Amino acid sequence: MKWKLTDILGSPYPIILGPMRFITLGKMAALVSKYGGFGQIAASGLTTKRLREEIRVARTLTDMPFGVNFPVYRPKTEELIQVAVEEGVKTITTSAGNPKKFIDRIKGAGLKVLHKVANIDMAKKAEDAGVDAIIATGIEAGGHVGRDGATTFCLIPQLARALSIPVVAAGGGCNFALACDIRIASERARFGEVFVKRGVFPDWGGVYFLPRLVGYAKAAELFFSGEVIDATEALRIGMVNKVVPHEKLAEETRKFALNIANNAPLPIAFIKRGLQNFGRMDLAQALDFEKMAVDTCWNSRDRKEGFKSFLEKRPPHFIGC
Ligand SMILES: Cc1cc2nc3c(=O)[nH]c(=O)nc-3n(C[C@H](O)[C@H](O)[C@H](O)COP(=O)(O)O)c2cc1C
Repeated sequence: MKWKLTDILGSPYPIILGPMRFITLGKMAALVSKYGGFGQIAASGLTTKRLREEIRVARTLTDMPFGVNFPVYRPKTEELIQVAVEEGVKTITTSAGNPKKFIDRIKGAGLKVLHKVANIDMAKKAEDAGVDAIIATGIEAGGHVGRDGATTFCLIPQLARALSIPVVAAGGGCNFALACDIRIASERARFGEVFVKRGVFPDWGGVYFLPRLVGYAKAAELFFSGEVIDATEALRIGMVNKVVPHEKLAEETRKFALNIANNAPLPIAFIKRGLQNFGRMDLAQALDFEKMAVDTCWNSRDRKEGFKSFLEKRPPHFIGC
């Protein structure tokens, strides 16, 4: 599958290893890239000599592209970027500041750059400066970028509306998936609400979503214990809808999505609104909404097409009105 982002990264999947100072070095970056993600070496705190060595370590472990992250407020950023250029790195990320003063250097060397931000102002400045994509990370970003402002969950839609370049959501993991309508997991997937093991509160709405999927008691068990469960257990407790062979994850997910996309958009939109809101309504309100949705769908062009296609024994062609 191709996205604007995979073009920028040069990797098969639009999944980026979050850079972590002194943790994500050559070996870890290479492993992520080797399996199709975009690994990153955190340059923060490294000397130019050490960064060069780490890039070379990664290079010996994978032919796939990987990047380097530069927090721009730190000393020697220019020299460190120069090392990445000399070592043939094609895409880098910047964070913690305005990347404008390094853009000519980066772009002049033909590199792509994604910049990590915590709010719209920073994102706009970075877009104006000429970065290729934005990585959005809210207040929960491991102590980085910004501690005032929105959580990533709130920031993403704001940025997606405000910018014309791709926006990458940082963090999230398990709880990001819980916020989706449907989850399809590879048989190799593992899920864990491990926050209590490090003394932090679960982010991305996890405490809201998980009990709605698996019930209060199971959610409490997973949150309080920090236990990591496999895909089979996640399926058993209703955390995921389906588990598929690892190699078929993209194919099966696409098939599943295309099947939904072939159905009538209008009733699906109303059903989604009902699913999200009926829990907050009383029965009379829910039935009022239902009547409005039934009438609107009945009078739609797609309902007529649905009936006509049934009589003509052909697949319907829905247009969403
Ligand atoms: C220990 C640690 C070190 C980090 N170092 C960096 C860094 O050097 N540069 C950077 O841009 N972000 C850094 N981050 C932020 C992460 O890359 C990531 O954006 C953030 O942790 C959000 O993802 P998460 O919710 O999965 O933790 C660091 C985070 C942690 C926890």
